[in-house]
Amino acid sequence: MKVALLGYGTIGKDTAALIEACPALEVAQIYVRPGKENAAEKKTSDYEAILADPEIAAVAEAMGGLEPAYSMLKAALLQKKHVVTANKQLVSVHGPELARLAEEQGVAFLFNASCGGGLPYLTSIADARQSDRLEQVGGVLNGTTNFILNAVQLKGGDFDSALKEAQRRGFAELDPSDDIEGRDTARKCILACGVAFGRLPPEQEMAIEGIASLHPADVEFFHSRGLRCRLTARAGLAEGFLNVCVQPTLVTEDDPLYNLPGGSLVWYQGVGSGRVHMTARAAHNPTASAMVRDLTTAAQGRHFPMLPTDSRLVTPRADGMVCSYYLRVNGQLPQEPVWVWHPCDAGSWCETGPLPAADVHRMAQALRREGSEVFFAALPD
Ligand SMILES: NC(=O)c1ccc[n+]([C@@H]2O[C@H](COP(=O)([O-])OP(=O)(O)OC[C@H]3O[C@@H](n4cnc5c(N)ncnc54)[C@H](OP(=O)(O)O)[C@@H]3O)[C@@H](O)[C@H]2O)c1
Repeated sequence: MKVALLGYGTIGKDTAALIEACPALEVAQIYVRPGKENAAEKKTSDYEAILADPEIAAVAEAMGGLEPAYSMLKAALLQKKHVVTANKQLVSVHGPELARLAEEQGVAFLFNASCGGGLPYLTSIADARQSDRLEQVGGVLNGTTNFILNAVQLKGGDFDSALKEAQRRGFAELDPSDDIEGRDTARKCILACGVAFGRLPPEQEMAIEGIASLHPADVEFFHSRGLRCRLTARAGLAEGFLNVCVQPTLVTEDDPLYNLPGGSLVWYQGVGSGRVHMTARAAHNPTASAMVRDLTTAAQGRHFPMLPTDSRLVTPRADGMVCSYYLRVNGQLPQEPVWVWHPCDAGSWCETGPLPAADVHRMAQALRREGSEVFFAALPD
């Protein structure tokens, strides 16, 4: 199958290299910005020519962002070309519309590469959805934060050095805020919700807490209890409502998340299947390998809709997720008489009783607005 690659950065180049070794696929054109064309290297900025070429059966998008990616993929689907993308931002906003269009046109719209690295996570959820009632999805979806958490918890490193090391090794972006503030995890979770439940929560309406305010005093608490912290996403559909939250979570030694050397660990839970875990070690180009796998699936006609046809954006809740929390505040302490506060190197900490996640996320935001530093993590059940 002849493929046009849209975007020739980290993922685009790795995808092109993997396609070289894949007999079922061939890169016909690479779409680049005007001024970067090179006919010998098949680089063009003439997208109309790509659309008009009947031999190009698929486009693989690795440009990122909403525009022009959205308009270009829509145009490709209208030309009955398969679309494969690694762009989680695009799918989280325009996924339902593009999925419906792909179905109308009888072509594939596949986006495994946008969530779970090289794991066939979204395909597995879509497959399980056909035969089981899915209750929850979640996991550790961001390798950068996992690398940092391992460095500070297992090697005794400090947060900033761990982040710099992740950047040096190419795991973390130069601007790591989407990773350490939990937004990258949230965007991947949106896609898992879409595939599992046909409901996509808008990012700005989700309860999202990252690990940016983690302090060595917090790590001391985790060690004292034999716990480890992971940045997790969890989402479930109950009584017609989508409950979602992204937050630091403490796990015991018998939890599969306790020993997680790198990469991701993702899961879905069905009424029939129970909880199914998938994990992979960190690898050189797992996202590109997922792009190529999706292209091969489309080439062989083995695809089926990843998003249910009635998929839509819905306002999520976080009050149906109830946990006890480790809470540390450096500043004005919340007025909660039953919480027992313990002084530490970075303010005071306490263990709360069971609370809806929504309440804790809201309280942390309010305390921060008043100038306090706050870190919290869900305690094991
Ligand atoms: N990197 C990862 O590990 C990873 C993992 C999972 C998913 N993803 C997703 O994969 C996508 C690509 O990520 P990346 O890391 O490969 O990004 P990247 O290295 O910045 O590459 C993006 C490429 O797209 C090109 N591009 C952007 N806008 C364009 C336009 N309007 N016209 C033509 N070319 C355009 C850029 O060209 P210029 O250089 O000329 O700007 C660049 O070559 C993103 O959606 C990202 O979220 C990435």
